[in-house]
Amino acid sequence: MRPVIVEAREPDGATIAICRDVAAAALALPDEVALRLSDALAGEGVKIIDLSSAQRTRDEIHYGLPELFGPPPAGTSVVSNPGCYPTATLLALVPLLRAGLIEPAVSVVGCSGTSGAGKALREDLHFSELFGNFFPYKVGQHKHSAEIALHLGAEVSLVTQVVPVVRGLAVTAFVRTEHEPAALLACLQQAYAEAPWVTVLPEPGEGLGVRHVVGTHQAVLAVGPRKDGGVVPVFGAIDNLMRGAASQALHNLNLWLDLPAHLGLPEPMGHVPDGTPGMSRAFA
Ligand SMILES: NC(=O)c1ccc[n+]([C@@H]2O[C@H](COP(=O)([O-])OP(=O)(O)OC[C@H]3O[C@@H](n4cnc5c(N)ncnc54)[C@H](OP(=O)(O)O)[C@@H]3O)[C@@H](O)[C@H]2O)c1
Repeated sequence: MRPVIVEAREPDGATIAICRDVAAAALALPDEVALRLSDALAGEGVKIIDLSSAQRTRDEIHYGLPELFGPPPAGTSVVSNPGCYPTATLLALVPLLRAGLIEPAVSVVGCSGTSGAGKALREDLHFSELFGNFFPYKVGQHKHSAEIALHLGAEVSLVTQVVPVVRGLAVTAFVRTEHEPAALLACLQQAYAEAPWVTVLPEPGEGLGVRHVVGTHQAVLAVGPRKDGGVVPVFGAIDNLMRGAASQALHNLNLWLDLPAHLGLPEPMGHVPDGTPGMSRAFA
């Protein structure tokens, strides 16, 4: 392997990274730092998985959601790892749009645990502030709106809420369709028939509980009934730190390096979860 030495420096001159003999690197860093290191390392031939949002809406960069966009094509130097809300939303909606079953304008309500905000201390995320509470945040300004809209090819209205759990994320997308919900469900079941880390529930309920997915790479999806207005809810649940970040990066890297797709990943769920989930693997 060609030796690689990259030094990226802060404005005050402090060294923040030195890499040697690196084939691939996953960058879990703030956007601007990730972009700087990505440019430096990719320029040295290192394969980059960027977990930040810095490159997710750049046309020339492969968007790494394997079930929907496949492995990185030959010649790829940077893979942009999708955001957490986009992962759950796109897995739930892209097959429906590709099949022409829903209109290209959707409303999405997403709920995420506190780890979605990173590790920095924040008063509103203190246990005594958030316990027994939840509230919307970044309404109309969440950077995941543009990311979802671009990769979905649809108009998106996104409202995000922070809820008093540490990890786990759930989205409900409200879609307009002339078709019966059963047709949407069949479409998702067919789209993910060969996808071991995507589970399509026969109906929404406790199986969507985030504890089922925390500590796993699994995405759990479901389609709800149509009520009077003709709007159908479509659901998705993931672990924001795994399928929404780290395990998705590993999944992409496995495909990119032509390794077995499951290497280093948790076992696929292998069954349809039902009932109120017990303590997750991550905390068992
Ligand atoms: N949290 C999620 O659910 C999630 C999901 C998907 C994607 N992401 C994205 O992934 C990235 C990391 O998220 P996170 O939640 O892990 O954030 P985080 O908890 O705030 O961690 C950021 C990390 O970046 C390091 N860092 C910050 N400034 C740096 C600098 N100038 N040079 C070198 N290292 C620096 C920090 O190092 P120190 O330990 O030294 O402070 C820390 O380890 C972000 O871009 C985020 O948007 C997060």
